[in-house]
Formats: sequence, structure tokens, C-alpha cells
Amino acid sequence: MTDKTIDSVAPDAEDAEMNLAPGEASSERVRGIFAQIAGRYDLFNILSSWGIDRLWRRKTVRLAGVRKGDRVLDLCAGTGDLSLAIARSTDAAEVVGSDFVPEMLEVAERKLERYSGSAKVSFCVVDAQSIPFPDESFDVVTVAFGVRNIPDRAANFNEVHRVLRPGGRYVILEFSRPVFAPFRWFYHFYLRLVIPALGGLLTGDRPSFTYLNDSIRRFPPQAALSAELREAGFDAITWHNLSMGIAAVHIASK
Ligand SMILES: C[S@@+](CC[C@H](N)C(=O)[O-])C[C@H]1O[C@@H](n2cnc3c(N)ncnc32)[C@H](O)[C@@H]1O
Repeated sequence: MTDKTIDSVAPDAEDAEMNLAPGEASSERVRGIFAQIAGRYDLFNILSSWGIDRLWRRKTVRLAGVRKGDRVLDLCAGTGDLSLAIARSTDAAEVVGSDFVPEMLEVAERKLERYSGSAKVSFCVVDAQSIPFPDESFDVVTVAFGVRNIPDRAANFNEVHRVLRPGGRYVILEFSRPVFAPFRWFYHFYLRLVIPALGGLLTGDRPSFTYLNDSIRRFPPQAALSAELREAGFDAITWHNLSMGIAAVHIASK
């Protein structure tokens, strides 16, 4: 666990103090949350999704269609699982994993010590709303469970469009909206009750997990996210529902 702490106040009080709606992202709030939970993030993921998050990342790598020699930028890489999965199971020449919370990247760096594939892999501190790489410098940009936490999504989409080569793809794995209503009701019940309780138990920081729950419910469903990507200049946008739409992979081409 990191030694950084944030006050464990009731989420409503915190939202009001920061002038935010429940589940609304701000860079300050998101940095605080992930710095606080970095050391337990992987364990929480495995327990809360029953390990399914790994299958979703694997599927995302397959759908990303990374080709031999590609340069890949993984945004909001956190503890590095998607970056390393791409490096291990594609013929990419280089994978750059990036995140704006150094505590999350410290966990990724420790995993990198055990990596021995042929793709070059590095991790760096980057805000996904202002990407410090030249125009048209990547073939594929990926993001897993990060877009939901970016306050200015339009800025991120514009930046990704800028750094992608013509024909390049933005591949987004994110929580989405289950299509079958009774299943959706059950899932939202699970989110509301189990996620804050389990997160609170593992990290002592229940408010952060209440935010994560609210942020999932606030996030635009599949078609609305596609419309935002189109607005930013992407085309040939498709999505693939995972686990009945609990999550979805959107693929948008430049
Ligand atoms: C839920 S975690 C996902 C981590 C990883 N991609 C995974 O699949 O497990 C979200 C990550 O997004 C990062 N993040 C949120 N907003 C960001 C931003 N504006 N720029 C860069 N990273 C951001 C957080 O620091 C956090 O590590």
C-alpha cells in the first residue's frame, strides 16, 4: 500500500465539497483515489470481477488487431496489465504504458521486471487529456477502464486522434450498459452493495469505491460513446459487448 492517504469522508460530503455530482470525475479526485488504492488495486479487481477482468483484457488485445512492428500507446495503464498483455501476445515493436498516478505505475514497473518479451515496453507519467507525443506517432492507442475517469473526455479523444497515424485505431475497454433489463437491475444492485463494501474492506477507503460505482452508472452507454467518438473525427466505429454488456470494447479508426 502507498503511504498516501485521503480523508475517508462520506462521498456525499466529498462531492459537495468538490462541487461534483456523485461519480463525476475531477483530476484531483481521481488522482487521490488511485494513489490511495494502488497497492490493493489488482486484488480488488480479481475479487470484484471474479477474475473476469483478465478475460476482458485478453479479448481486447485480440480485437485491437496489433500488427507486426506497431507502436502502441496504452493510456491510463495503471498497474500495467493491458500494456504487458499487448507486449506478450502481439508482434508490436513497442508498447508505451502511461498513467498520471505514479503510485499505480510503480506497481506496473515491478511487473515489468518479470517481463522478457521482444517488444520494447516502458511506463511514463502522462495525463491522457494532454498527450506529450508528436502527431501521428502511434499505430494503436488503447485504454482499459480509464476513459470513465477522464474529466474532459473530448480532450482525450482529440489528443488520441492527433497522435494516431492515419488508419490507426483507438481501442477502448470500459464498463458499459448490460442490454437485458433484468440482468441490468441485478448488476446495478451488485454494484451498489458489493463494490463499496468489498473495496472498503480491502483498502479502508469505502468512499473511493462508492465513486467508482457511481462513475460506472454515469458513463454513456455503447451508442452514446460511439457518437462522442464520431464527433471527435473517428470513423468505422464498432463495439463488442462483453459479459452481456457489463463491459464493451469500442474500436474507432482515424
Ligand atoms: C481503473 S484504473 C485502470 C488501470 C488499467 N488500465 C487496468 O486495466 O487495470 C484507471 C486508471 O486511469 C488513470 N487515469 C485516470 N484519469 C487519467 C488521466 N486523465 N490521465 C492519465 N491517467 C488517468 C488512473 O490513475 C488509474 O490508474
